[in-house]
Amino acid sequence: MPDVFNFTFNDIPDLEGKVAIVTGGNSGLGEVISRELARKGCKVYIASRSQARAEAAMARIKTSIGTDEKLTFLELDLERMGGAVAAAKSFMKLESRLDILVANAGLGGIKSELTPDGYERTFGVNHLGHFAFVTTLLPLVIKTADDNAESQVRIVIMSSKAYEQAHPIDLENVRTTYHSKFAFSTLRDLLQRYARSKLANLYFMRELADLVKDRKNIYVNASHPGLVYTNIFNLSTSPLPWYMRYIGELHAKWFGINVNDGAKTALFLAADRRVIENDIKGALMYPGPTNGFVYYSNIYIREINKLGMDVQSREKLWQFSEAALAKALQS
Ligand SMILES: NC(=O)c1ccc[n+]([C@@H]2O[C@H](COP(=O)([O-])OP(=O)(O)OC[C@H]3O[C@@H](n4cnc5c(N)ncnc54)[C@H](OP(=O)(O)O)[C@@H]3O)[C@@H](O)[C@H]2O)c1
Repeated sequence: MPDVFNFTFNDIPDLEGKVAIVTGGNSGLGEVISRELARKGCKVYIASRSQARAEAAMARIKTSIGTDEKLTFLELDLERMGGAVAAAKSFMKLESRLDILVANAGLGGIKSELTPDGYERTFGVNHLGHFAFVTTLLPLVIKTADDNAESQVRIVIMSSKAYEQAHPIDLENVRTTYHSKFAFSTLRDLLQRYARSKLANLYFMRELADLVKDRKNIYVNASHPGLVYTNIFNLSTSPLPWYMRYIGELHAKWFGINVNDGAKTALFLAADRRVIENDIKGALMYPGPTNGFVYYSNIYIREINKLGMDVQSREKLWQFSEAALAKALQS
């Protein structure tokens, strides 16, 4: 297998007849992913908590690719697991196949509050909401693969290099918020919450990949986009003091890669033929390696660290998430 894959949007094959969902497709990386899949003829559901923002994204995509015929809004708020299940079920009433599922939506650096289900929002949205949404859709993903032996079905989970900073996930802690009068404690807590939610994304991807390992034509992988200056760096609702917000935003603005380049790892995993040719499954891909400050549209498989490969933690998280989902569906 080559160490590094050079990828441009031209490498995306014809996707006519295929159906995709992109969570958070109304903004940033998700919008570019939706746009490039639709450009190749894929029917794309932009899963978003705001119809207005989804329609604004569709209008921008139409300006770029000349049509919005391939785009549909799917209402999805990941804060409520019950709502995420309902969104998945409403999709399954509309479509009988799902070829590409990109679990991209995410947040970080926000004011710490509990979701209506009772979990700190970073973990609740980034992990639990997607757990509920993706696992509800999984039977349809499997059916799509089984019914279409020639078809290659993909699930891409958007993680982040930030997971490398994560401490082990303390499942007691995911029900508590963080508040400190000291700015640096708040910053540390907020970065850890984000890092652990991205570690949870990685565990989720590895567990899903294991679940479908007997299916030759289902490819489950995770992506880190690189540092990209998007709305996630709009820290206006963050509990951080202004100077920390300013530094955070400036850092992404100056050192980040552009959003088109940032979308490439996920798009490669969602559509490129080389994923199949090289049987890339259960992998985490990063952009790069970079040459100094220059990024050459290269993508490579990043070795997952010891904590990321910890099977026990990953199984514990799965069981916890299943129980959380069952509880949310009861209430
Ligand atoms: N940008 C980076 O440097 C970077 C680096 C590593 C990983 N990532 C990951 O990349 C993914 C995309 O982020 P981005 O950089 O493109 O930021 P973005 O432009 O802020 O996009 C985030 C998307 O997630 C959606 N979202 C947030 N909360 C949601 C909820 N409760 N329910 C449904 N959707 C929700 C947002 O919807 P609204 O528009 O309604 O808020 C938005 O569409 C995230 O998972 C992020 O962690 C980004």
